[in-house]
Amino acid sequence: MFPIKSFQRIAMIDTDTLPTPIWRDELDDEYAELTARLKDQVPCLEWSWHLPWIDAINRLKTQRGAVIMAHSYQSPEIFHGVADITGDSLALAQAAATCDADLIVMCGVHFMAESAKILAPDKRVLIPDLDAGCSLASSITAADVVTLRARHPGVPVVSYANTSAAVKAESDAICTSANAVQVVESMGVDKVIFLPDEFLGRHVASQTSVELVLWDGRCEVHEKFTAQQARHAREQFDAKLVAHPECPPEVLAEADFVGSTTAMGKWLECEKPARVALITECSMADNLRSQFPATQFIKPCNLCPHMQRITLQNIYASLRDLRYEVHVPAGTAAKARAALTRMLQIGRREAV
Ligand code: 13P
Ligand code: SF4
Repeated sequence: MFPIKSFQRIAMIDTDTLPTPIWRDELDDEYAELTARLKDQVPCLEWSWHLPWIDAINRLKTQRGAVIMAHSYQSPEIFHGVADITGDSLALAQAAATCDADLIVMCGVHFMAESAKILAPDKRVLIPDLDAGCSLASSITAADVVTLRARHPGVPVVSYANTSAAVKAESDAICTSANAVQVVESMGVDKVIFLPDEFLGRHVASQTSVELVLWDGRCEVHEKFTAQQARHAREQFDAKLVAHPECPPEVLAEADFVGSTTAMGKWLECEKPARVALITECSMADNLRSQFPATQFIKPCNLCPHMQRITLQNIYASLRDLRYEVHVPAGTAAKARAALTRMLQIGRREAV
C-alpha cells in the first residue's frame, strides 16, 4: 500500500466560488462576544471593515482543516479574531511540534514559520507574506557561525529562535527569551557562543556564571526604547515597568520585571498592578488589555514592521490559494531540528 502523503488530507475547495467578504447584518449577532471583547482595542469604524474578513477566514479555515497560529505581536483582529493558537516564539514552536492539523498558517515572521516546518516536516506550513522578516534573523548568516566556531574552537553555539534555519543548523541548541539561561547552562561548559541578540545576551550573562561570546544583532523595535522613556512612564503615570530582554541594558535596569512575552502576562496576573507600561512591541499591550481589565496600560507605539505585514486580507489569500508555502532543505532541517529539539526538551523555565 502506498503511504498517503499528508498534503492530500488538506481539503481542496473550489476557490472560484468563494464570495468576496462583505458586510452582512447577521455578523453583528454572530460576533457580538468578540466585538464586545475588542471594543477598546480596535476603533469601531475599523471593526465593520475587519468583521467580514474575520468571518470569511474562519469559514475557510474550517473548510481547509487548517490551524492558524499567531504571535503575540499580531494585531488584535488577527490575534483574537482568527487565531486558534496564540503565544510567544516558544509556545508557537511547541504547538507546531504537536499539531494535529495538516495545514498550518503562521501569522508571525519567517523564522517562526521555518521553525514550525522544521518541527512538523510532514505538514504544509504557510506564511501570508514571505517578506515578514526580522532584524535579528538577518543580522547573522550560517557562514558567520562557522567563522565564530573557528575563532572559538570547541565552544558550543546557542542561538536565539530569531535566526534562519541555516543558522539554526549550525547551532548546538536554540533558545527563546523564556529559557535562554537554562539552555546556556544545559550545555555544561564554562563558555558559550550566544547569538545573535547582544542585549538578550547581556541580560543572560547577568544571570549566569557561564561566559558568553556575543554577536552584535539587535531587534529594531526593542533597541529604540530609552531609559529616559522608561523613567518618564514611571514618574508621569506612576506605572510599573515591564520590559522584554531585547531592550537595551539601561532600559532593563529601570524595569520592575524583565521577561519573555508570556512571562509578562503571568507577571501581570500575579502582581495585578493598577498601571503598567509594557516596554515591548505595541500590539502586545492591545492583546493583553482585554485579559486584564482592572489594569491600565501605558502603551508604546513601537510596532514591528515585519509582524505588521500580516493582515486579514493576506491571511485570507493564504488560505484560499495555499500560499506562501515555507520549505526548508532536508539536510538543513535535520540539523536545525536537533538544535530546536534541545530547546523543546528544556521547555519553559522562566521564573515569574
Ligand atoms: P518572544 O516571542 O520569544 O518573547 O520574542 C519576542 C520577539 O521579538 C519575537 O519576534
Ligand atoms: Fe524581529 Fe524585533 Fe520584529 Fe521580533 S519585534 S520579529 S525580534 S524585529
